[in-house]
Amino acid sequence: MHKKEFTQLLTAWGQQNDRPMPWKGEKNPYFIWLSEIILQQTRVEQGTKYFLAFKENYPTVFDLASANEEDVLKLWEGLGYYSRARNLHFTAKYIVSELDGAFPDNFQDLLTLKGIGAYTASAIASFAFDIPKAVVDGNVVRVLSRVFGVENTFQKAQEKKEMQELADSLITKKLPAIYNQAIMDFGAQVCTPKNYSCDDCIFSKNCFANEHDLQSVLPLKKKKVKIKKRYFSFLVIKQGNMVFLEKREKQDIWKGLYQFPKMEREETLIDSFEIEEEVLKTWDIKSKEYCIENVSEVFIQSLTHQKLFVNFIEINLISEIKHSFINTDIDFLSKFAFPKIINVYLSSKKFLRNGK
Ligand code: ADE
Repeated sequence: MHKKEFTQLLTAWGQQNDRPMPWKGEKNPYFIWLSEIILQQTRVEQGTKYFLAFKENYPTVFDLASANEEDVLKLWEGLGYYSRARNLHFTAKYIVSELDGAFPDNFQDLLTLKGIGAYTASAIASFAFDIPKAVVDGNVVRVLSRVFGVENTFQKAQEKKEMQELADSLITKKLPAIYNQAIMDFGAQVCTPKNYSCDDCIFSKNCFANEHDLQSVLPLKKKKVKIKKRYFSFLVIKQGNMVFLEKREKQDIWKGLYQFPKMEREETLIDSFEIEEEVLKTWDIKSKEYCIENVSEVFIQSLTHQKLFVNFIEINLISEIKHSFINTDIDFLSKFAFPKIINVYLSSKKFLRNGK
């Protein structure tokens, strides 16, 4: 397929496509940035409500910059990968304090901002400033690999460079915003991973994958990374209506969120016998001063490089102990931002009203 023809067909398709989305045609770089960061975490259907909530709570970059980090994390809750929300807040503060609230208006300067990679910089540059810089994400890799028969896993630096060069050679200088929006939508609506609609496709006659029946082979699959299994036990220590929490300060994906005191094991989850040892050892509590009420079922969460196996050990404390935890009323738990797996547990216990 000729590149020029691809660009023309796709741009025309984009101009006719009526998939409604609240950020479509947006020129304000702040709103574009918000939508793109949210859409890196979730699909359009779910992302829309988060986008509208951020827009309503923080209508300008100044509002986001002056927000309290906990409130930003709370609004992000449910999307996962909280480091994106922390970077969003950090970068808003940076733009306000160092750039007088104005977003950089070119690809290279956008790229220097924390949390903004090539994809987001291209989206902002093209949508807000009409710069012909092509977005490349999973959707785009799929469309280009299939139509042009490219064997590229988009994994190594060299492969990423080649894919970006191909994408940049296709984007129209006249309508870069329409082109970029069109290729994202085309990948999401027509050239989908499975159940692709080749019969109705604008490229059906010249698509390499369609011609060679290679839709399920292209794009080439990424090599699997080894998934590390981790075993966490959270101690839900209750004293009357109060419960202990701690704030995660470690530099990881859950930084700034709250959790019940946590114990980690290398190969299995802690059971109630072991916990007696641990509790006794760590806090010097005598066995008659507490009782183990329940050990929950095992909750499982798969992340990109890790699979978490988690249980919750509910302990009733009878006497006061010396500790450095946050002591909160169970009725106030919904005020704290927790990792997703803790929210799943809390909802299952009906600790959180309305699942929140
Ligand atoms: N996915 C990421 N960005 C998008 C956008 N602007 N429109 C639709 N889907 C997207």
